[in-house]
Amino acid sequence: MSIQRTFSIIKPDAVAAGKAGKVLAVIEGAGFKILGLRMVQLSREQAEAFYAVHKERPFFGSLVKFMIEGPVIVMALEREDAVAKLREIMGATNPANAAEGTIRKLYADSIERNAIHGSDAPETAEAELRFFFTTSDLNR
Ligand code: CMP
Repeated sequence: MSIQRTFSIIKPDAVAAGKAGKVLAVIEGAGFKILGLRMVQLSREQAEAFYAVHKERPFFGSLVKFMIEGPVIVMALEREDAVAKLREIMGATNPANAAEGTIRKLYADSIERNAIHGSDAPETAEAELRFFFTTSDLNR
């Protein structure tokens, strides 16, 4: 497995709770290099576009409302097997099912307010990185 990039968001719940630094410490502790990082207040339009794949889901409206309730931290991350490794350290979507020591087990409240997003595949990662970062932002 070669060096790969992935995209992540520290969600409004974790930022508001003052857990952003702790989440970043877990990510860096797992060997990720931070290529890009920015605090962003998402607009409704941005949140709807970012989560467009979920727009038919019953939780879509609530998810968008949550994602715009306060600032988020968007990150471009790099390491070997980055997509799978980030998902491993994030834990299951529902923190009730997340393994001990994972970010969601440690810092998430519910299946919706789950502290962190991570891309689910290399192709998704590249599309999500492009949503928030320019090519020159990521050339480090
Ligand atoms: P994320 O990994 O960002 O991908 C989609 C998000 O939708 C997910 O994390 C949760 O925040 C939210 N989500 C997924 N499933 C549910 C659900 N059943 N109910 C409410 N929110 C959900």
